Amino acid sequence: MSSAPLPEQLQSVLSPAGQAAQQVADLSWILIGGAALIFIGVMGLLVWSLRQRAAGQAHRVASKRLWLLGGGVVFPAVVLLALLVWSTARTPGWLAQPPPGALIVGITAYLWWWEVRLRDSATGREVTLANELHLPTGRPVWLGLSSRDVIHSFWVPALAGKMDLVPGRTNHLLVQADQSGVYRGQCAEFCGEQHARMALHVVAEPPAAFDAWLAAQARPAEAPSSALSARGQQVFLAQRCNACHTVRGVAEEGRLGPDLTHVGSRLYLGAGTLANQPGQLAYWVAHTQGIKPGARMPSSNDIDSGSLQALGAWLESLK
Ligand code: CUA
Repeated sequence: MSSAPLPEQLQSVLSPAGQAAQQVADLSWILIGGAALIFIGVMGLLVWSLRQRAAGQAHRVASKRLWLLGGGVVFPAVVLLALLVWSTARTPGWLAQPPPGALIVGITAYLWWWEVRLRDSATGREVTLANELHLPTGRPVWLGLSSRDVIHSFWVPALAGKMDLVPGRTNHLLVQADQSGVYRGQCAEFCGEQHARMALHVVAEPPAAFDAWLAAQARPAEAPSSALSARGQQVFLAQRCNACHTVRGVAEEGRLGPDLTHVGSRLYLGAGTLANQPGQLAYWVAHTQGIKPGARMPSSNDIDSGSLQALGAWLESLK
């Protein structure tokens, strides 16, 4: 399937691409509009009151009480109650079960990246990847969200509101993308040093493109196609990268870090930290701690440059 790069959308609550996000956007506009009206009203009253004082017209005590009670208690109570009722009626219900036909995706948060698991319905094979999630447009997607360490929060503003990922339990979020595009998400619960570099990207594409992507992701890594990448695979094993990383078809025991079986196909590296352009994988491996200090992966700056180049070439070839 030929695929022109999808445009990356603005990460904004006000640019919704699905129904749940549309409700959040509507609510945001109501709040912004309402707050603006109230602000203008209060400023108007302030100007009026200052003018009255300048004109030497003192307020009676009874009129002051009326303003305090009306403006300070009754008005806010009515406005907040109306907002509570209106927004509660529009809050999605807590579904115990995924709706029929939903795609089911598991997401586990780690310090500071996202593990994503999908099942290929054609082969039944489970696909594991990191920091990138592809979705078919127009189909509900049921996310099961959990954490392996501290509390994180899943937030892709174009698709839905926030949902926390809490160790020891699974929370659910129903999302649906109605428009193709790349939507950036961000961890929205402070989780330590690299909280800001804990992003993920959601690629929403037509169902046929999604199926092709999922089938490709379900395949094990292809054998190295050049001497350079063959050497890169040897470097990967010699450096014991496989103690933490799985590359299906090469080494499958590493579970601590992201699955790298198709790392070359991803848009970004290090949870949205670097665009995945030529040379960036080798740069990341050699300078991890300089680029993302505190990340669980050490900098491999002791690898000689030839081996590093080969390792980068092999990883980039894992499309
Ligand atoms: Cu994970 Cu903030």
